[in-house]
Formats: sequence, structure tokens, C-alpha cells
Amino acid sequence: MAKSRHRLIRLAELPVDTNQGFRIDGKPVLLCRTAAGVFAIENRCTHQLAPLEGGRMRGTNLFCPRHGQRFDMRTGATVGQLTKIPIQAYEVCIDEDDTIEVLLPD
Ligand code: FES
Repeated sequence: MAKSRHRLIRLAELPVDTNQGFRIDGKPVLLCRTAAGVFAIENRCTHQLAPLEGGRMRGTNLFCPRHGQRFDMRTGATVGQLTKIPIQAYEVCIDEDDTIEVLLPD
């Protein structure tokens, strides 16, 4: 599947243990950074469609701020009982000038 590359922000603008939402070509995307790395996921919970921005993170997991459903940010898979529907997880690259890029399917 073809993918398009989107340059977002510099790594220094996304401190460890924070996340920040973007809208890219109409898609809600959440950039997340923890000690485990930088991840890009769909910014919409599959339980009741709440934005995931501001959700608590631990390692590679993010917890929905509304009811606490946990998602694996590497794959989008759910961990928990509220929903079994995964979210999208997107490929992330850090380019040579420390800009975070997200690859979205066309
Ligand atoms: S809306 Fe995310 S867990 Fe309910």
C-alpha cells in the first residue's frame, strides 16, 4: 500500500511522557513520546470515540482518558475489556534534522 510522508514537529517539541494531536488530511493522529520511543496512533478511541490526546502513557501503552481502555501504541491493539476493536498505528521516522515524520496510508 502506498504511503505519504508528513513532517510534523521537531523531537524537542514533544517532551518524553507527552502526546499531541494533529489532523493530517482529515485524519486525527496522535503523536506520543515515552521512554520507549515515539509513536503515532489514531487519535480516537474505538470504545466511545473519545480523543486519546492527554491519555496517560506507560511504556508502549496509552490509556484512554475517558474510561481507561489501554492500547498498545506499537500496533494499535487493545488490552482490556471495553473494546476489542484496535486503533490505527502509523509508522514514524525521525529524520536527520530531528523532525518527526508520520507515514500514512494513501
Ligand atoms: S471512550 Fe475510550 S475507553 Fe471509553
